[in-house]
Amino acid sequence: MAQIGTDVGKAASLLRAGCLVGIPTETVYGLAGNGLDPAAVLDIFKVKQRPAFDPLILHVADARQVEPLVAEFPPMARQLADRFWPGPLTLLLDKSPLVPDLVTSGLPRVAIRMPAHPMARELLSMLEFPLAAPSANPFGYVSPTTARHVEQQLGQAIPYILDGGACQVGIESTIIGFESGQPTVYRLGGLALEAIEAEVGKVVLALNQSSNPAAPGMLKSHYAPRKTLLLGQLDDLLAQHPGKALGILSFSHDYSGSERVCRVLSPAGSLEEAAMGLFGALRDLDESAVDLILAEPMPDHGLGRAINDRLRRAAAL
Ligand code: TXA
Ligand code: MG
Repeated sequence: MAQIGTDVGKAASLLRAGCLVGIPTETVYGLAGNGLDPAAVLDIFKVKQRPAFDPLILHVADARQVEPLVAEFPPMARQLADRFWPGPLTLLLDKSPLVPDLVTSGLPRVAIRMPAHPMARELLSMLEFPLAAPSANPFGYVSPTTARHVEQQLGQAIPYILDGGACQVGIESTIIGFESGQPTVYRLGGLALEAIEAEVGKVVLALNQSSNPAAPGMLKSHYAPRKTLLLGQLDDLLAQHPGKALGILSFSHDYSGSERVCRVLSPAGSLEEAAMGLFGALRDLDESAVDLILAEPMPDHGLGRAINDRLRRAAAL
C-alpha cells in the first residue's frame, strides 16, 4: 500500500529509481514517472489502465527545460508560457527526438506544462528529467484532488504519494496548440479561455467529442462516476425522478431534502470555488447511497465552461 507523506526528497529518490509517485499539482493529482524513461512511462499506462493511444503531459520546473524537449518553441507559445506559467496551461509543441514516442503515443507533438503547486515545483527542481504525469485516476474515472483519492484507487500499485493538500484549481489544465500559427484549444481547463484570448486574441476550439482521440485527446465519456449522472435543469430532473434516492450536484442553490444528498459547489456563486470542489463532490455522491446523480450546468463562462465540459463527459454513456 502506498505511503502518504510530505517527503519531497524521498519522492525524488523513488522517481530516480524508476518508480511511480503520486504528486500534487494545483489542478489535480498526477501519477508521475521519469518522462524520458520508456520503462517508467510504460508503467504509467499500465497502472492507470490507460490505452496507449492517449498521450501524456510532461511537467517541467522552468521554461529552460522545455528547449531540449521540443523542435521549436514558437513566439506565441513563449508568450503564453511567460504569462501563465507556472499554472494550469499545457502547451502542445513539436517534439524533439529526446521525448520517447510512448509519451506522445507516436504523435508529432508533445504536451508540456509547468505546474504551480509549490511541492511539485520543489520536486521538479530537484530532478534531472521532466515528469510524465497523467491525472492519478484509473482511466475514465473522476480525477483525484486529494492524496486520499489517489490512495483509494492507485494505492496498491505505487509506493508513495506526496501529500500537498487539496488541489486549489481542481480541474485539469487547459491544453493549447498552434495550427498554422493559429492558437487552438483542445481541452478546456483551469485557465479560462477569456484569459488566453486577452493575451493572444481569438482562439479556435477543437474539443474532441468523438471516442477516437487520435486527434488530441479527450474521449467523449470521461471523468465519469460509476453511477448514472444526468445533466439538466434540476427542477425538471427532480420532477422526473420521484421516489428515488438522489445525489444532487448544484452550483449555488441548496436542493437538500429527504432521500436526497446535495452538494452545493459554491453557495457564493464563484466558478473558481465550484471548479475546486467539483471532482470531490462527484466522488462523494458516487460513494453515497443514492440511485442516481443529477447535476446542473454552471454559468457558461470562465471556468464554468470547463466544468460544463467535464459534466457533459461524465453524463455521456
Ligand atoms: O492538469 C493536468 O493537465 C493534469 C496534471 C496532473 O498536470 N494532467 C492531466 O493529464 O490531466 P491527463 O493525462 O489526464 O490528460 C492529458 C491530456 C490527454 O487527454 C491527452 O490526450 C492530451 O492531454 N495530450 C497529451 N499529449 C498530447 C499530444 N502529444 N497530442 C495531443 N494531445 C495530447
Ligand atoms: Mg485524466
